[in-house]
Amino acid sequence: MAARTMPAGARRAGAAHYEHARRTPRAASRTSGGDPAPPLCYGVASLSRSPPMTDADHRNNRRTVAAYEGYARGYAAAVPATPSPQAAADLRRFAASLAPPARVLEIGSGPGWDADFLETLGAQVRRTDVTAAFVRFQIERGKQAYPLDLLSDEIEGTYDGILLLYVVQHFERDQLDEALRKLARALTAQGVALLSHMLGDGDEWEGDAGDYRVVRWPAAAMDERLRRAGFAVEWESFIDSERRPWRSVLLRKLG
Ligand SMILES: C[S@@+](CC[C@H](N)C(=O)[O-])C[C@H]1O[C@@H](n2cnc3c(N)ncnc32)[C@H](O)[C@@H]1O
Repeated sequence: MAARTMPAGARRAGAAHYEHARRTPRAASRTSGGDPAPPLCYGVASLSRSPPMTDADHRNNRRTVAAYEGYARGYAAAVPATPSPQAAADLRRFAASLAPPARVLEIGSGPGWDADFLETLGAQVRRTDVTAAFVRFQIERGKQAYPLDLLSDEIEGTYDGILLLYVVQHFERDQLDEALRKLARALTAQGVALLSHMLGDGDEWEGDAGDYRVVRWPAAAMDERLRRAGFAVEWESFIDSERRPWRSVLLRKLG
């Protein structure tokens, strides 16, 4: 199920026809202190207690991952290896919140471009992804990378920081709480995580073949889930990519 087009999470594609893609969508990003954030609807339905996860929920993520297996190299080629100024600023703030020598777990590392940048800031990054093609891609370029499915696997060990960038849009609403609890368990006391999510309501399938599952979250609903999992949101930033609003949050584990 190889996708021929950029998946929803590929926010750094260089497609010239996109409004914000003059250099990279990341370069056209904005912070909460800049332009106003996009209008949001704050749904209350998504704040309710989640029903049990179903096989269908797992199938949706597996279908998305199968699409990445066929598109990983295309993704790596399309996404600039150097973060935009906004993305670099977020990663610097994340790194600054870690006491050196910091051990960071990256989940859904993709090509590993963010891990490369974070390592220039002094962090030791364990790169992981559920998509074998991304793990292979990083190994071929001389990095150590490991398989990890955040939905099915337990995280071994604890880390000072966790990176989860442009990943949770591929999880069903019912899958988010347990994924967030896993992050909390894998962090040391007062550990921090940098997580991004697509803003908005609703969900859909994207890509030419409709193989990429995309679940959007209003900020308030996401923050409620984060709070329940034991996190405080310390700061947020906003990025528009391919006309898609994304929000990144720096989370501190409470307690
Ligand atoms: C849009 S890409 C983002 C990649 C990279 N973080 C970046 O910012 O370029 C989404 C990533 O989520 C990963 N992913 C999807 N489902 C996952 C799961 N269950 N566990 C871990 N990673 C997952 C995909 O393999 C892919 O690398």
